[in-house]
Amino acid sequence: MPERPYVIDELISAKTIAARIEDLSREIAEEFAGTDKLIVVGLLRGSFVFIADLVRELDLPIEVDFLEASSYGDGMESSREVRILKDLRGAIEGRDVLVVEDIVDTGYTLKHVSGLLRARKPARMKTIALLNKQVRREVDFNADWVGFEIPDEFVVGYGIDFAQRNRDLPYIGTVRFT
Ligand code: PRP
Repeated sequence: MPERPYVIDELISAKTIAARIEDLSREIAEEFAGTDKLIVVGLLRGSFVFIADLVRELDLPIEVDFLEASSYGDGMESSREVRILKDLRGAIEGRDVLVVEDIVDTGYTLKHVSGLLRARKPARMKTIALLNKQVRREVDFNADWVGFEIPDEFVVGYGIDFAQRNRDLPYIGTVRFT
């Protein structure tokens, strides 16, 4: 639970997110057109809302799997050590894979997970992040699709937490301490 009082200012509305997901879904469906072996992999916990909305817009036959990675714990600063807390249920060798992330910040998480999954020899692997904080990048990694470029502010909502709170907000907001 957060220790200091704060308010949340809306940064990206639920409506704007929904419209962007429609566009992204069309691009992803074009990329993977014709495949019947796509596995959409959500990185827990932050991506659970995004992946739910994304797969319902995707006009493709898909399977869904999850992997839990954590580098932040309850803090606001990345530990830069990515821990795999829960692995995929299924094999991905020879399959098409779309990795779904809520936010790319330092880049450690998605770079680490991508390397791990690539070693399992999928036929094709792409990554998508709803949010990207380019200014915070510490490793050389960019997602194939990004929903929104955002400034270097602490964001919450739409799956993203502050000390495990506020994941249930339908929009993306910024945290302001009062
Ligand atoms: C957050 C977020 C991303 C990652 C991005 O996960 O969901 O996975 O950090 O940061 P990075 O680019 O600096 O690695 P967190 O470790 O907080 O776990 P959670 O998804 O369970 O909230």
